[in-house]
Amino acid sequence: MNAKPLEGIQACVFDAYGTLFDYASAAARCGDVLGEKLEPLNNLWRRKQLEYTWLRALQQRHVGFWEVTGDALDFTLDTLGIGDTKLRKRLMDLYLTLDAFPEVRETLHQIKTAGLKTAILSNGSPAMLEAAVDNAGIGDLLDAVLSVEEIGTYKPHRHVYQFAVERLSVPATRISFQSSNAWDAYAASAFGMRVVWCNRYGQRPERLPGRPDHEISTLADLPALVGAVS
Ligand code: LAC
Repeated sequence: MNAKPLEGIQACVFDAYGTLFDYASAAARCGDVLGEKLEPLNNLWRRKQLEYTWLRALQQRHVGFWEVTGDALDFTLDTLGIGDTKLRKRLMDLYLTLDAFPEVRETLHQIKTAGLKTAILSNGSPAMLEAAVDNAGIGDLLDAVLSVEEIGTYKPHRHVYQFAVERLSVPATRISFQSSNAWDAYAASAFGMRVVWCNRYGQRPERLPGRPDHEISTLADLPALVGAVS
């Protein structure tokens, strides 16, 4: 990874969950009932959610991210011995109003003000993404909210990254893609996008094709890397 800002960037494309929106904030709001199961629940729910997307993509048995998220939650509740159906509903409802990370609004504002396009590219279903964007009040700062539902498979299928190129009419090399998921960051890089890995969770580098151009720990460091500081 180098320290030189990326040149010629025309669009910043963001992963949603874990990058713009804090997926752990749903369960955090149920901390009263979850107690010491809070962290194991968050970790397993997220891991299973991602695994199910990869496995379903390989099997070519796509269902939307809402269903995958629910299936992953059921697996997790079962594993942790939690049989509370009200809690299940509460967690799923809360997934629609996840907190945005604190720097998200200002970062998007700076990038847009500098004249770059902004977009989300996410596994999330259109309804989930619309709810999260509305809740965070960032709709006015996004040129596009792109859901894999239009493609019918999940990241890291290359068609998903290609979809952003086509929808934004910006070549891959002129797109800076941001994800906090290392595997997603590496895949976008292998596809040909420039990549800023927002490594919020202190993940280790992947042994996968691709190589992020930059690594940051919060999106507040992004504008300087894409020439969007005044
Ligand atoms: C997404 C998941 C991977 O938003 O975080 O696509």
